[in-house]
Amino acid sequence: MVQSIDIQLTTKKKEKPPAKNLQFGVHFTDHMFMLDYHVDKGWHTPRIMPYQPITLDPAAKVFHYGQTIFEGLKAYKTEDGRVLLFRPDKNIERLNRSNERLSIPHLDGELVLAALQQLVAVDQDWIPSEPGTSLYIRPYVIATQPCLGVAPSTEYKFMIIMSPVGAYYAEGVKPVKIFVESEYVRAVRGGVGEAKTAGNYAAGLKAQEEAKEQGYSQVLWLDGVHLKYIEEVGSMNVFFKINGTVVTPALNGSILDGITRNSVLHLLRAWNIPVEERTISIDEIVEAAKNGQLEEAFGTGTAAVISPIGELNYHGEKLIIHEGQTGELSTKLYDTVTGIQNGVLADPFGWMVDT
Ligand code: COI
Repeated sequence: MVQSIDIQLTTKKKEKPPAKNLQFGVHFTDHMFMLDYHVDKGWHTPRIMPYQPITLDPAAKVFHYGQTIFEGLKAYKTEDGRVLLFRPDKNIERLNRSNERLSIPHLDGELVLAALQQLVAVDQDWIPSEPGTSLYIRPYVIATQPCLGVAPSTEYKFMIIMSPVGAYYAEGVKPVKIFVESEYVRAVRGGVGEAKTAGNYAAGLKAQEEAKEQGYSQVLWLDGVHLKYIEEVGSMNVFFKINGTVVTPALNGSILDGITRNSVLHLLRAWNIPVEERTISIDEIVEAAKNGQLEEAFGTGTAAVISPIGELNYHGEKLIIHEGQTGELSTKLYDTVTGIQNGVLADPFGWMVDT
């Protein structure tokens, strides 16, 4: 039986930010969830409590060796007042795959789902309703054992915090300019690229910073061995529409198994659009762009949902995609995914879960 969750409600509710122009991940709701682990006790004491700072020993392993994983998912409020989560089962499965890779003990999926549902229900008046907004949910595990030895921690905390958000990119759902990264790499097979762990994101900052200096929003990551095959775009999966067929890199061990990626693949197949999950070289994309066959390109992720790519810069050469405008397929995918999420469209795949 799933452990029952103790709920301590805040006595001091915070003022909510205006729903217009919400910045990504800067405001946090009134409550958070916490669960502790000790090697002798397992995961214990699940609780919802007022959002508050936490105290950690300076020697906690997470600070030194990065033993930590996270997830990201969203909650929505429909016009008829239902509060829904988008495919939380997929996040919970991936959370435990990341745990496994980082030698973090397995979490009870039923308890995690109950925690998500109850926390969102408690803070449901924080779910914004302006178009393009949602409540972003960040579950994460940190290693808390105070010890500098390099070995899996004997103590952890699993926490969930939540943030009302607007569009991820300041540009909104507008095409972004992407720099093809040919020096730094994000991940290699056998590494941690398919785990959602902090180090992957820290390691990407340098490239992102250098791309920004040149006027680009993000980088397109190439594979870590040949610097030839496309992997991801920024912190998202990437898709290209070439001559009527949609292609995306196959999951190869270094690419994150994105839930929006998976949802887009379901939709494309349901719409009978030819789709291929395979190896894609940057040369193929450059050639398709030059031949006029690169019809669209876009990133997919929980935060931005669909992020059209208007320009790729590869070795100084600028490839303009769909005249730098958002393509029809990107728009249709964005409208369909967000329509299902907001309860405006039917949910043919049973993706939405009640709280
Ligand atoms: C996502 O696109 O959902 C991400 O993982 C980005 C997040 C790290 C803000």
